[in-house]
Amino acid sequence: MSFYIAGTGSALPEKVVTNDDLAQFLDTSDEWIYTRTGIRRRHVLTHEKLDELAIRSAQIALADAGVTGADVDLILCATMRGDTYTPSLACIVGEAIGSHAPSFDLNAACVGVLYCMEVADSFIASGKAKTVLIVSAEAMSKLVDWTDRSTCVLFGDGTGAMVVRAGEGRLAGVLSTNPDSKVIRMPNFEGLNSPYNVYEQEKLAMHMDGGEVYKFAVNAMGRNIEEVCERANLTPAQIDWYLPHQANVRIIDASLKKFKIDKSKVLLNIADCGNMSATSVMVLLDEYAKKGTFRKGEKLLFVAFGGGLTSGAVIVEWKKD
Ligand code: UT7
Repeated sequence: MSFYIAGTGSALPEKVVTNDDLAQFLDTSDEWIYTRTGIRRRHVLTHEKLDELAIRSAQIALADAGVTGADVDLILCATMRGDTYTPSLACIVGEAIGSHAPSFDLNAACVGVLYCMEVADSFIASGKAKTVLIVSAEAMSKLVDWTDRSTCVLFGDGTGAMVVRAGEGRLAGVLSTNPDSKVIRMPNFEGLNSPYNVYEQEKLAMHMDGGEVYKFAVNAMGRNIEEVCERANLTPAQIDWYLPHQANVRIIDASLKKFKIDKSKVLLNIADCGNMSATSVMVLLDEYAKKGTFRKGEKLLFVAFGGGLTSGAVIVEWKKD
């Protein structure tokens, strides 16, 4: 037994920050950011809390799937950092939707949603769950250094959710890790006031070697697409829709180039949202599902890369009418 996607939802912060807004306080320009990345604007948290938006996403996805919190057997939340270390964001969502299901957060950086889909698949395949709520929530604006133009211009905040249920739908999945703790790194704080702590605190901000990440991303996404198609006994040309992690249009183009895929099959929202880490593919899914883009029986391929360095791809057949 595998799973199908029964419902989707998303909720983004109200505030939209354009490239021109950033150029007011950074030595950058709309021209540089757009031509290098495809990003025009991004949503940024101001008065909202991340968990409030995550709950809203979950509620929309549950309603879309026609289920309630009581029907959920497992809650997974893809996030690098919720509003609190404990309770986990998954527990906070569970409390809000009236669920007593096991709930935990999963950090696989930008690939988090794909990791959650594979964990959900294992719970469902082993008979431990029938309905799984997967939430993604990232507050990137709270993790980047807003004086570092080489990173802060790339990211946006957002949340999304999907409900997956036991049934036929998922055709194949592949997850991989190419361990590297240097090219993307975001340190945690070292402790409040422990007299025993002798480590020097690293700067609390994202450190990234953009060029190295770029090379890894193009290779990993291309390799993962090949592998997942092989496992599903499909060719890349037989995929109806590509939902790639929205880090950079140039990375997406370069990783898909060798497959000669019609560009209209490759879904994008990077221009309006930037890179929302794990949440990118979730918001993309919800946006195009709500537009009625997917037809029953069509094959969706999710592919992503991120800090760790993690990567993965999942193919799911769309089952909703
Ligand atoms: O979810 C995973 C997260 N990470 C990524 O996806 C990052 C992957 N990497 C990339 O997307 C690209 O490498 C970047 C967009 C980060 C950078 O693009 P690039 O074409 O590789 O530019 P670059 O790093 O080679 O920098 C070119 C120049 C540098 O100036 P000099 O040294 O040539 O004088 C940078 O200092 O652009 C400068 N620069 C900027 N200029 C204006 C860097 N950031 C900016 C900026 N505005 N925001």
